[in-house]
Amino acid sequence: MWRDLLPIGRNASTNGYRRYAWTPADADCRAWFRAQAETRGLAYEEDRNGNQWAWLGDPTAGDAVVTGSHLDSVPDGGAFDGPLGVVSSFAALDELRARGARPAKPLAIANFGDEEGARFGLACVGSRLSAGQLGVEQAHALRDGDGVSLAQAMERAGYDPEAIGPDPERLARIGAFVELHVEQGRALAETVHPVGVASAIWPHGRWRFDFHGEANHAGTTRLDDRRDPMLTYANTVLAARKKARLAGALATFGKVGVEPNGVNAIASLVRGWLDSRAPDEETLAAVVGEIERAAVERGLRDGVDVKVTRESFTPVVEFAHGLRDELVRLLSGAPVLPTGAGHDAGILSASVPTAMLFVRNPTGVSHSPAETAAEDDCLAGVTALADVLEGLACR
Ligand code: GLV
Ligand code: MN
Ligand code: MN
Repeated sequence: MWRDLLPIGRNASTNGYRRYAWTPADADCRAWFRAQAETRGLAYEEDRNGNQWAWLGDPTAGDAVVTGSHLDSVPDGGAFDGPLGVVSSFAALDELRARGARPAKPLAIANFGDEEGARFGLACVGSRLSAGQLGVEQAHALRDGDGVSLAQAMERAGYDPEAIGPDPERLARIGAFVELHVEQGRALAETVHPVGVASAIWPHGRWRFDFHGEANHAGTTRLDDRRDPMLTYANTVLAARKKARLAGALATFGKVGVEPNGVNAIASLVRGWLDSRAPDEETLAAVVGEIERAAVERGLRDGVDVKVTRESFTPVVEFAHGLRDELVRLLSGAPVLPTGAGHDAGILSASVPTAMLFVRNPTGVSHSPAETAAEDDCLAGVTALADVLEGLACR
């Protein structure tokens, strides 16, 4: 499975992946998923929101046990964030069959569309739509960096954007959703455990900061006469780091756009995207508020107008305690850990009992081509997922 996935959306110059929603690389990932389902004789379906499902047993029977993850990536992402969960799901199903396990409930594997939000800026679009956490009009209006709307992108990929929307009937058929994911920190690396169970996801969000200044000549405009948004932006980045550190939170400006983007021109506009996360919503709101205040105050000194727009927000997720405890029991006392990363499992947890398994990541690096996991640990993840599926669906 890894061999087939390896070349899809790979950027040869960085060895990272660029698998963005509704692009040819995305279509290749989807074709791969479908082929995996059909090779195994699973019933394949794609829902109205572009999420893919592979069913063992009757999809309409209810109380299904579903596993899976996503196949899309961040810009120059690693091989594991997303695909490890999908590959492990198919491998765990093979393992269950090899064990001769007899599911008493329907089992399914899912691939949720556009989890990373790399193209349209909003994460987990597929699961948010299905769970009714993203309005249809709001989704249609999302635009990528070239101004292409989500609706246009879907249409060009051969999908019907008018059909998207909440899918409560489908979610109501799910009794439990378990997502396996590569760990995105080093909590397990410090332990003897290759697999852990998630406790919670930190609340997190994305904010766009627009710094409006005035374009002018870099060689002739006196420093005192400038309205340079780059200065305000730079100070805001430093303020974000400091406010986050003081609050025990995280704040990252990882994406920036500059207009006109000329070497010898003072910028007219700098647009920076803040990703911020914290252990609780109060802290998150306080940190983002302080960063905004710092930006506005600095803007007054620089003659720069600052506008802040919240582009997405995901509240804290506490995974279902009963299911979490059941997983810990099935895995003979696997460690329980929180994460700062967002996941479809977090979105779905509002509609369905959900849980997550994390596979040890020796470096903790993620959202980078250097993301990795040892083969033995990946295999331990497959065994753990098979144990969980057997425990939940076969007794
Ligand atoms: C998804 O990986 C996120 O946490 O941004
Ligand atoms: Mn990710
Ligand atoms: Mn992921």
